[in-house]
Amino acid sequence: MSAHLREWPLDREGRARYADSIFAAIAARYDLLTTLLSFGQDRRWKASVVAWLPNDTPRGHVLDLATGTAAIPLLLRRALPSARIVGLDRSRAMIEEARRKCAGDPGIEIVHGDLNAVPFAARRFDAVTMAYGLRYLTDIRRSIAEIFRLLRPGGVIVCLDFGLPKRRWYRRLALGYLLAMGTVWGLLLHRRADTYWHIVESLRAYPGQDAVAAAMREVGFTDVSLEERLGGISVTAYGRKPA
Ligand SMILES: C[S@@+](CC[C@H](N)C(=O)[O-])C[C@H]1O[C@@H](n2cnc3c(N)ncnc32)[C@H](O)[C@@H]1O
Repeated sequence: MSAHLREWPLDREGRARYADSIFAAIAARYDLLTTLLSFGQDRRWKASVVAWLPNDTPRGHVLDLATGTAAIPLLLRRALPSARIVGLDRSRAMIEEARRKCAGDPGIEIVHGDLNAVPFAARRFDAVTMAYGLRYLTDIRRSIAEIFRLLRPGGVIVCLDFGLPKRRWYRRLALGYLLAMGTVWGLLLHRRADTYWHIVESLRAYPGQDAVAAAMREVGFTDVSLEERLGGISVTAYGRKPA
């Protein structure tokens, strides 16, 4: 089966184009798939992103990168009723879903843009969140430095993503599970076995959570920590820009 997996594109344009084609095809089923693939844990893991935000964020300004169908903005809204929330994504199909779900909330703005060239002024946000977006960055260190620039002093970065378990056999088991379940759900939901293979393709090229934490420290974040679940398969990474 692995012979048919594609190489995760290394260049920015190639990766963005591949991502666009993936999410154009799955946008309508995306929320269902995340629930199925995680056995219903996805919502709890996403709630961990919100739980890491400091108490003074309620009236703050939060940017959610790779916002997809706006799961994080909607969780943020529940926890932070007065916050201004901006969600950014480059997939028209995912943005359409996000705008439909957020319609009626003037405090959530969903904007079209690229993760690798975020169009905001420096020190504008109190928090930057990102769920399952790290693997789409072509230069993780540069993008984390960019997020550092977007944050006001004292602001925080919180990223949820798949991680790479340290034990080799367990990592292979995890990737095997994701490939097998992705194949099953791809066939059942889309009649295409390879619909969700990009998850494994991206993880094979991903440097892992320790590299993310190291990049956070290198660009100047403090209090960097990793919250790992299921032996490192699901990870929330946190850092704070010094005040
Ligand atoms: C796995 S989804 C995550 C969506 C959402 N954060 C969630 O957890 O439900 C990844 C998202 O990243 C977006 N994405 C991928 N590459 C991107 C890029 N270069 N710029 C902006 N968004 C991108 C995709 O369009 C997709 O919506």
